[in-house]
Amino acid sequence: MQHSILYSVVAFMLLVTELQSYAGAHGIGANYGRQGDNLPTPDKVIQLCKSRNIQRIRIFDPQQDVLQALQGSGIQVIIGTLNIDVPTLANDPAFATTWLQTNIIPFASSVNFRCISVGNEMVPSQNASSILPAMQNLRTALIAANLNIPISTVVFQNVLASPFPPSAGTWHPDAASIMVPLVQYMQANGYPLLYNAYPYFAYRDNPNDIRLDYALMSTSEVIVTDGALGYTNLLDASLDALYWALEKVGAPNVEIVVAETGWPSEGEGHDPATIDNARIYNSNLIKHGQFGTPKRPGKGLEAYIFALFNEDLKPKGSEAHWGLFYPDMSEVYHVDF
Ligand SMILES: *[C@@H]1O[C@H](CO)[C@@H](O)[C@H](O)[C@H]1NC(C)=O
Repeated sequence: MQHSILYSVVAFMLLVTELQSYAGAHGIGANYGRQGDNLPTPDKVIQLCKSRNIQRIRIFDPQQDVLQALQGSGIQVIIGTLNIDVPTLANDPAFATTWLQTNIIPFASSVNFRCISVGNEMVPSQNASSILPAMQNLRTALIAANLNIPISTVVFQNVLASPFPPSAGTWHPDAASIMVPLVQYMQANGYPLLYNAYPYFAYRDNPNDIRLDYALMSTSEVIVTDGALGYTNLLDASLDALYWALEKVGAPNVEIVVAETGWPSEGEGHDPATIDNARIYNSNLIKHGQFGTPKRPGKGLEAYIFALFNEDLKPKGSEAHWGLFYPDMSEVYHVDF
C-alpha cells in the first residue's frame, strides 16, 4: 500500500517533470551574432530579449560578457564551441574539462543551458572526424562535474544527398561516414541534432521551381505530396527529409532543433530579401512552429531565428541584413514572439 502510494507520487512527479521538459523544449528563439562594430552591450541585448519574450537564444562561441549578462535571465541558451577548438576538445580530455570549467561550470547554476554545440557546419570538412570524440570528452567532463546538458553539433543541408522528396532523404556520401555514428550517438544519449535550414536560399536560387508562398510558409495548400504526407511549406519538407535520413540509420528518436533559419530584409536586384518577406517568414515560423511537421505532427518546433541584429561587419548585400533589430535596438519589422 505504502509502496503503491510512493509509486504514484513518483510517477506523478516524473510526469510533471516530463511535461515541463516537453513544454520547455519547444518554441522559437533567436541567434545572437556579434559581427557588428555598433551593437548594444550584452546586458542591453538580454533586456531586449526579455522585453520581447525571446526566451531562447543561441550564441556561437563562449563569450564571458554575454554569459554574465545571461545570469538569472531564465533564457535558454545553446552555446557553441569554436570550430578551431574541436580538434583539441577531441584529442585532449583535459582541454574539454578546462573548456567546461571556463565557460559552463561558473554559470551552470545561473544560466539555463539548453545544449552545447560542438562546432558549426563542420560536416563535411577536414576536422569533422573530431566532432564525435569531442562530444564524448565533453560528456565525460560534464558527468564528472555532475552536470546534465545535451551535447550536439550544427549541420547544414549539405549533409543530405537528396532532400526531395522528403522520404528520399539519405546522407550525402561525403557526410555519411561522419553523420551515421554521430546521430547514433545522439540517439543513444537522447541528444538533439542541430540543423541550419534556409528556405530563403532554396527559393532565391530556384525561383522558377519553388513557389514563394511555399518558401514563406504562407499557404495552407498542399504543394508537395510524398506518400501519405502532404507539405504546405519547404521548411517542413526539409526537416522531414532529415527525419527520414535519421530513421534509416537507426536514429528515429533524435529530435531536430533548427539552430538557424530566417529571411534577410534587404538584398540586391531581384533578391527576394525584402522587409515584407522577412516579416512574413519569421511570423509564420512562430505561428506554424507549434504544429510540428507532417512526419512528426504535434511535436512542436524548436527553432532559432537568424538573427537578432543586422551585423555591419558581414559582407554587403543580403548578408548584413538578417536582423530582427537594428543596432540601436529598434525593429527592422515587427514579429511577436
Ligand atoms: C582543423 O583543425 C586544426 C587544428 O585546430 C586547424 O589548425 C585547422 O585550421 C582546422 N581546419 C579547418 C579546415 O578548419
